Amino acid sequence: MEAQLRLRPLSLFTLLLLSLLSTSSSSHLLNVINAERRIDLTSHIVKVFLTLKVENTGTIAASEILLAFPPNEVDHLALVKAAAATGKRKKKTYVPLDVNPTEQPDAPNGTKYLAISLVKPLGAGETVTLEVLYILAHSLEPFPAEISQSESQLVYYSDSAIILSPYHIKQQTTFIKTPSAKIESFSRVEPTNRAGTEIKYGPYEDHSSHSFSPIIIHFENNNPFAVVEDLVQEVEISHWGSIQITEHYKLAHAGARHKGVFSRVEYQSKPSISGVSSFKNLLARLPPRAHSVYYRDEIGNISSSHFRSDKIKSELEIEPRYPLFGGWKATFVIGYKLPLQDFLFESPDGRRYLNFSFGCPLVETVADKLTVKVALPEGSKDPSVEVPFPVEQRLETKYSYLDVVGRTVVVLEKKNVVPDHNSYFQVYYTFKPIFMLAEPLMLVSAFFLFFVASVAYLHIDPSIRK
Ligand SMILES: *[C@@H]1O[C@H](CO)[C@@H](O)[C@H](O)[C@H]1NC(C)=O
Ligand SMILES: *[C@@H]1O[C@H](CO)[C@@H](O)[C@H](O)[C@H]1NC(C)=O
Ligand SMILES: *[C@@H]1O[C@H](CO)[C@@H](O)[C@H](O)[C@H]1NC(C)=O
Repeated sequence: MEAQLRLRPLSLFTLLLLSLLSTSSSSHLLNVINAERRIDLTSHIVKVFLTLKVENTGTIAASEILLAFPPNEVDHLALVKAAAATGKRKKKTYVPLDVNPTEQPDAPNGTKYLAISLVKPLGAGETVTLEVLYILAHSLEPFPAEISQSESQLVYYSDSAIILSPYHIKQQTTFIKTPSAKIESFSRVEPTNRAGTEIKYGPYEDHSSHSFSPIIIHFENNNPFAVVEDLVQEVEISHWGSIQITEHYKLAHAGARHKGVFSRVEYQSKPSISGVSSFKNLLARLPPRAHSVYYRDEIGNISSSHFRSDKIKSELEIEPRYPLFGGWKATFVIGYKLPLQDFLFESPDGRRYLNFSFGCPLVETVADKLTVKVALPEGSKDPSVEVPFPVEQRLETKYSYLDVVGRTVVVLEKKNVVPDHNSYFQVYYTFKPIFMLAEPLMLVSAFFLFFVASVAYLHIDPSIRK
C-alpha cells in the first residue's frame, strides 16, 4: 500500500514529462528534403497531388507530419488523402494514413493544419515519403463574372508558388496544368516557365517554414461547372423484391453568369463557338444491373435520355429540357430499381446489411450537400452505419402504405462531396423474419375486412338494389 502511494507522484511526473516531450517534438525538428506539387486545373474541381520527402533531423521520434493551408483554402477543402510510399519505382506500395484537423498554438496569419498520423513513428535520422491528394471545390473564380453566349469562360486560380509548410523545405517544384493553352496571364516567381498547358514554378531552394509567395493564374476553362446544390438520395429496401432508389437533384451551373438573351438558333447553328461553357447533357453512373429507370422534372417524364446497363456498370445520359448556362438551374428526379441480392447481405453475426455506394452519381460534379436516406424494412432494429469518412447521422421514421409501425430511416448528411468520395458504406440492422409476414397479413386482413363490409352493406341496406 505504502509503496503504491510513493510511486504515484513519480509516475505522474514521468507522464507529464513524456507528454511535454511528445508535444514539443513535432514541428521544428522535421525537414522536407524534397517536395513536388502537381495542381490539376483542367476541371472545375481542383486536384492537388503532393509528394513530400520528410526527414527527422531531431533526436526524438515523430508520430505525425503536418500539412498547412491558408485559412480561405481550408473552407474549400473537400477531401484529403495521404499515404506513405515504400519501395522503389515499380515495386512501390502505399500504406493509407489517417488525416485529421489539428490546432497549433502559434499559427502565423491564421494558418490551418492537418496532421497525418504515421503508422510507425519516424525515428531520428529516418526519412519517409508521403503522397498526398487534396481536392478543392469552388476554388476557381470566373472573371469576368458575366459573359455573353458567344464568349469563352475565363477563371482565376490563386495559390502560393512556394508550398505553405510548417517545415523548412530544401527543394521544391510546382507544376500547374490548365485545360487549354489559352492562358491570359500568370504571376512569375523566378524561375517560372510555361510550356503549352503547363506552368512550372521552381525549383526553389531552401525556403524557411511558413514561406508564402502569392500567385494568380487567369485562364480559359470551359468545362461544365456542374454543381449539385442539393441532392437527396432515398434508398428503400423491401425484402419482398428490390431496392428502389429515388434521387432529387437541384443542379446549377456555377460558372460565369450568362449575360443577355439566349438565342437557341445561334446555339444550335454554331455549337463550337456559341455557349462553349454551357452544358446540355450529363452522365450519371448508376450501379450495375439497374432497371426501371426514369428521369423526370416538374413538367413530367423527360424522354431524351440514354440508358445502358450491364453486369459491370449502368450509365444514364440525361439531357435537361434546356442547356444550362452560368447561373442557371435545373431541378429533376432520377429513379431506378436494383436487384436486392446485389446489395443486401447477411453478416457472420446474423445481422443484415446494405452495402451501397456513397456519393453523387453525376460524373465530375461537386455536391454542396448530399443527404442519403436509407429506409429499412418494417420491423428492423438496431441500425448501425459504417462510412469511411465523417458524416452527420440521424434516425427518422417513415410511414408508407401498408406500414403498421413505420420504417426506420437512417439519414446520412455530408457537405462538399466530390467524385473521389465515392466509396462503399454499410448499414447494418437486425430483422426478425416474422415481420416478412406483416405486409401480406395486412393485405389479407384488408381484403377480408372489405369482404365483410361489402357483405354487411348488401344485407343491411337492400333498398339500394331496388
Ligand atoms: C502574414 O501575412 C502578411 C501579409 O500577407 C505577410 O506580409 C507576412 O509575411 C505573413 N506572416 C507570416 C509569418 O507568414
Ligand atoms: C414516367 O415514367 C415512369 C417510368 O417509365 C412511368 O411509371 C410513369 O407513369 C411515367 N409518367 C408519366 C407522367 O408519363
Ligand atoms: C461492398 O461492395 C464492394 C463492391 O462490390 C466490395 O468490394 C466490398 O468488399 C463490399 N463490402 C462489404 C463490407 O461487403
